[in-house]
Amino acid sequence: MCGIVGYVGSRPSESILLSGLARLEYRGYDSAGIAVIDGDGHLGMRKRAGKLQVLRDDLQHAPLADGTSGIGHTRWATHGGPTDVNAHPHLADDGRLAVIHNGIIENFAALRAELAGSGDTFLSETDTEVAAVLLAREYHANGEDLEAAFRATVQRLDGAFTLLAMHEDHPGLVVGARRNSPLVIGLGEGETFLGSDVAAFVEHTRHALAIGQDQIVAIRPGSVTVTDFDGVAVEPEPFEVTWDAAAAEKGGWSSFMAKEVSEEPEAVANTVRGRIHDDAVVIPELDGLDDLLRGIHRIIIVACGTAAYAGQVGKYALEQWARLPVDVELAHEFRYRDPVLDEATLVVSISQSGETMDTLMAVKYAHERGAKTLSICNTQGATIPRESDAIVYTHAGPEVAVASTKAFVAQITALYLLALHVGRVRGALSAATSAQAVAELEAVPEKISWILEAEQERIAQLARWMADSRSVLFLGRHVGFPIALEGALKLKEISYIHAEGFAAGELKHGPIALIEPGQPVFVIVPSPVHSPVLHDKVVSNIQEIRARGARVIVIAEEGDAAVLPFGDEVVRIPLAGSLFEPLLAVVPLHIFAMGLAEARGLDVDQPRNLAKSVTVE
Ligand code: M6R
Repeated sequence: MCGIVGYVGSRPSESILLSGLARLEYRGYDSAGIAVIDGDGHLGMRKRAGKLQVLRDDLQHAPLADGTSGIGHTRWATHGGPTDVNAHPHLADDGRLAVIHNGIIENFAALRAELAGSGDTFLSETDTEVAAVLLAREYHANGEDLEAAFRATVQRLDGAFTLLAMHEDHPGLVVGARRNSPLVIGLGEGETFLGSDVAAFVEHTRHALAIGQDQIVAIRPGSVTVTDFDGVAVEPEPFEVTWDAAAAEKGGWSSFMAKEVSEEPEAVANTVRGRIHDDAVVIPELDGLDDLLRGIHRIIIVACGTAAYAGQVGKYALEQWARLPVDVELAHEFRYRDPVLDEATLVVSISQSGETMDTLMAVKYAHERGAKTLSICNTQGATIPRESDAIVYTHAGPEVAVASTKAFVAQITALYLLALHVGRVRGALSAATSAQAVAELEAVPEKISWILEAEQERIAQLARWMADSRSVLFLGRHVGFPIALEGALKLKEISYIHAEGFAAGELKHGPIALIEPGQPVFVIVPSPVHSPVLHDKVVSNIQEIRARGARVIVIAEEGDAAVLPFGDEVVRIPLAGSLFEPLLAVVPLHIFAMGLAEARGLDVDQPRNLAKSVTVE
């Protein structure tokens, strides 16, 4: 959950490290630091608790000496609170060696006791400092060969880690290692970069190399070597970054979240693009996998947070179009309950970042137990797709705000494409149903754009009126239920207001006791045209809560006159087939959460206690 950047080249490294950290700050933002080896061969280090700006201000006030290599870190605290001392880099070998780390070293307590027993002392509470001190010992035990010492060190570590290190004796060399935690290489002209993801260096180069699990990299200006943990050379896999630096800039928007909500139409359109042929869905990445798809008997979707809600929506489509039974599991629960898996089970993981540790572990577990794995992912070169048998990329572009928005609609879109592809391959889907679904899907971007244009300001105003609410409830049925959960999660996450999502039918089994006069409740109303039975049931549910004083905000299809008398506020969405309504109904909820957080003066992009990419279990 931390951001890591490394640089060796001929340009001043400080500004390169700081701009890389700015692009990685979404991964953690409770402290930041850099280490640079200057022109005289001295290692300078600065680190500060707080957001990156605190470090920037400090460096402006008291600059480090110029150097052309360095490492930088932005932190999400695990071991030890967010203080200056616990911030990275951590130094060892009399301040001549610097180490940064993402992940958790699970055997750090035993190592720390061992090192302390031999006389080493520690300044911080972190697991990272233990790795730094161990590396210093190995450095001297291995004839001051930094790469050999690094190999010896990582072999003693358990858990998940990306580690970078540099030593004063070796200016122009940064070594790195990864185990279950991300690290990629950027190749420039006479300069080389390391980053937790390509955002760290995309403004300098789009040529990248992926590093596999349990591999070590050594970068020098214009050169790279990669080995396994035993020192055996391996060939890293090259890839080109398909988006440019501007895609990860705010570009005039008040926040990344505002920009990313505005990109929801494009996220859907780009995910569909190139995957429709003659009114049928053909996903090129799944070429050659027809036998595998015909051989499966069930699907288990594993994901966390918003991605899991996308999975819950996708379940309806996979069952309807592919006629396969689907379970949706929170990834962190999945592997701890001995699930029944076999080679006729397809485990579909969903992850924007492709690095969520809980999801990654679920995928590995499924693979070990003989299931087939398919990853729906938004990030090229990420770990989860690399560990899966098949990949379907979402094309939402880089998502920077911690709250996931455009990735969510892209994930649902990818699941629908998958359902239509699998349904066709298995012969479960008629050509007419396929053509109708494709037409609906292709119409979604324009419908989302309509909501953004026609309803955005009114929803934002509603959010301003509700800025002092203490609790907001969300109700939905069928595909509207996971959308209610998503609306509640988004509100909690960025506005810190208590929010809950419920299946509307469940209300009278308990949650209706929460309703008291003035309680705001959002209700996602199914289409009266496509789901008349469910529509009427939800209208009854609305009456039940109004009778108890709820203030009801309905999200209803244009032309739904029956619901009008029962909504204190009505937000309109365009007419769409039942399965397509989630892609529309969620947009007002994203706008609402953002508007309410803004009205409360909160940082919508970097909410407290969170990080974008959850790379610890
Ligand atoms: O990168 P992933 O899609 O795997 O992330 C999963 C969740 O951590 C993520 O969706 C989280 O719930 C969001 N911050 C919600 O907005």
